[in-house]
Amino acid sequence: MLCDDTGFMPFTPELAFPRLAILSALAQEQLGLIGLLHQPRRVRHAHRDFWLGDLHGHPVVLALSKIGKVAAATTTAALIERFGVRQIVFTGVAGGLGQGVKIGDVVVATGFVQHDLDASPLFARYEVPLYGKTCFPSDAGLSALLATASRAALEHTSLRALGFQDGCVHQGLVASGDRFVCGAEESRQLLRLMTEAGHDVLAVEMEGAAVAQVCADYGVPFAVMRTISDRADDSAHVDFSDFVQSVASPYARLVIQSFLRLLLKK
Ligand code: ADE
Repeated sequence: MLCDDTGFMPFTPELAFPRLAILSALAQEQLGLIGLLHQPRRVRHAHRDFWLGDLHGHPVVLALSKIGKVAAATTTAALIERFGVRQIVFTGVAGGLGQGVKIGDVVVATGFVQHDLDASPLFARYEVPLYGKTCFPSDAGLSALLATASRAALEHTSLRALGFQDGCVHQGLVASGDRFVCGAEESRQLLRLMTEAGHDVLAVEMEGAAVAQVCADYGVPFAVMRTISDRADDSAHVDFSDFVQSVASPYARLVIQSFLRLLLKK
């Protein structure tokens, strides 16, 4: 029987093997990966489906973050507590904020800040209360592998055929918040406020900072790649839907396959 420092826990086979979790923001992304799983097994927990199996020689668990910071935090905590995962990689899409971050590019996050967190004047704006910090960094080693995998996947994807410019990989800070940023003025303002606070933000999304904070609480290394689906401007919602279907899902599958091959070589 497995136990922890809070007392006995019933044996759960999911905890027997430390695993890599592959967290997807979108059901379309996850579908492609489930199709590649060897001996897939679905476990229903916390109103979510977790898919256990083997992917390119790795015991993995696939999960959906759901949308927004709280949902992503629940999924992350469940992955760690219930499924014993020891590494997390996350794929999804984001709105491009930084100059030169265009639709079709990839951002591999070096860290996360919450752009909608403001407990001032008790704490500095954007500071996570009682943590004494604003940014939560990603794991450098996993992020380097993810960046290499993203470059390899971009080389195999003809974005031009789909009407986009060729993409490139950026590495930098990502801002998360419970808001789909969908206005040119709003995104300019967001970028200005972040820059004034000393945060050189490349992209905006809705989950990464929550995953980062939970992973920091548990000491679990994680890395995140986001394909840029829109520019967080007035046409963001249209660009987002088109892009997810035609590019982001097949692309995430290529990235994960390449990432797992690289991980095996380490
Ligand atoms: N994810 C993809 N595009 C986004 C946007 N514009 N705002 C927040 N999250 C996003």
